[in-house]
Amino acid sequence: MEKIFSLVFVFLLAFLMTACSQNRMEENGAAGGAETAPATDTIESAHETGTEPDHTDSEPAAEEEIIVRAEFDFESKTVMLNSGYEMPINGLGTYSLHGDECIDSVKSALSNGIRLIDTASAYGNEEEIGQAIREAVSEGIIRREDVFVTTKIYPGNEMENPAQSIQACLERLDIGYVDLMLLHHPDPNDVEAYKTMEQFVKEGKIRSIGLSNWYVEELTEFLPQVDTVPALVQNEIHPYYQENDVIPFIQDLGIVVQGWYPLGGRGHTGELLGDPVISEIAGMHGVSSAQVILRWNLQKGVVVIPGSSNPDHIKENAELYHFSLTEDEMAQINDLDRGEKHDWY
Ligand SMILES: NC(=O)c1ccc[n+]([C@@H]2O[C@H](COP(=O)([O-])OP(=O)(O)OC[C@H]3O[C@@H](n4cnc5c(N)ncnc54)[C@H](OP(=O)(O)O)[C@@H]3O)[C@@H](O)[C@H]2O)c1
Repeated sequence: MEKIFSLVFVFLLAFLMTACSQNRMEENGAAGGAETAPATDTIESAHETGTEPDHTDSEPAAEEEIIVRAEFDFESKTVMLNSGYEMPINGLGTYSLHGDECIDSVKSALSNGIRLIDTASAYGNEEEIGQAIREAVSEGIIRREDVFVTTKIYPGNEMENPAQSIQACLERLDIGYVDLMLLHHPDPNDVEAYKTMEQFVKEGKIRSIGLSNWYVEELTEFLPQVDTVPALVQNEIHPYYQENDVIPFIQDLGIVVQGWYPLGGRGHTGELLGDPVISEIAGMHGVSSAQVILRWNLQKGVVVIPGSSNPDHIKENAELYHFSLTEDEMAQINDLDRGEKHDWY
């Protein structure tokens, strides 16, 4: 009798452990957030299996794959990357910011709730970005895990020696890990450089990886050569250069699109911010032209990283969630496209 009782007890215990571990897996799957461990890091991460594999067939059943387009969450102001990490949808660009001006701009952004900072090895300001973040952490403004930092390695020397260049970025930033690292431009060594970034992801030093200045042709050639679907592609996007063919192509691959020069870039902002169509829409909503352009990007599913060293502009550029553009207003801005690139790449 005692034996039977023990046997029943063991079965019961085994059953309960299985049920608990199932629950834990379901909870983890539903969690998400910046601290969530990535689901997978391979090409399949952008896909979901549409049908259960049929184990009774001798031939493996064909799996129908559904690519998931990343949707922006306007409540949390974030998007879930295909790497399993959450990224803010508005941030601060830091091109051309240096020294104290750069540190002050990043800290001003962080104090105004901005949680996405874009830099690059080529900007020569990773040390300042790292310093600003470390100071903000020690002053209690943020925790390291609250801020999402993107950096990039450059073609030529850096991509010829990718491990060394990536390690140098990590050391200059000195904030533990990098949230997202991009290849700044296509390069003869870009596939090898990308594979090296994949290795750093495996080592936990980089969380997500992606590309910058890759368009339809470049992506079509590049993607079959690598295992990890880029989490993000960063390209020039503004009302005068809209990339309306490129954006949906990238998004349909489950890759998030981010726009650089959202305000046209230095030397071009005057014309864009003074555009009569944009100014009129801004007037209707009681916001600035910059806010209209940034909101137009967000409604197209494009992450924005306007650059600024002016604390008032930095604050204004983050206030994008108290108004929305109508379909007609979106269409009016879409009509401004001139295919006018403001930089050579
Ligand atoms: N991947 C790439 O190849 C690539 C290339 C270029 C740039 N980027 C990234 O994209 C970011 C954005 O580009 P960007 O900074 O060159 O150009 P941008 O964001 O289009 O424009 C920056 C200019 O706009 C002004 N500005 C910002 N907010 C404003 C506002 N609310 N009202 C009026 N003026 C405003 C800034 O002046 P104030 O300082 O006076 O505000 C600055 O002169 C860069 O910082 C960089 O992180 C990437």
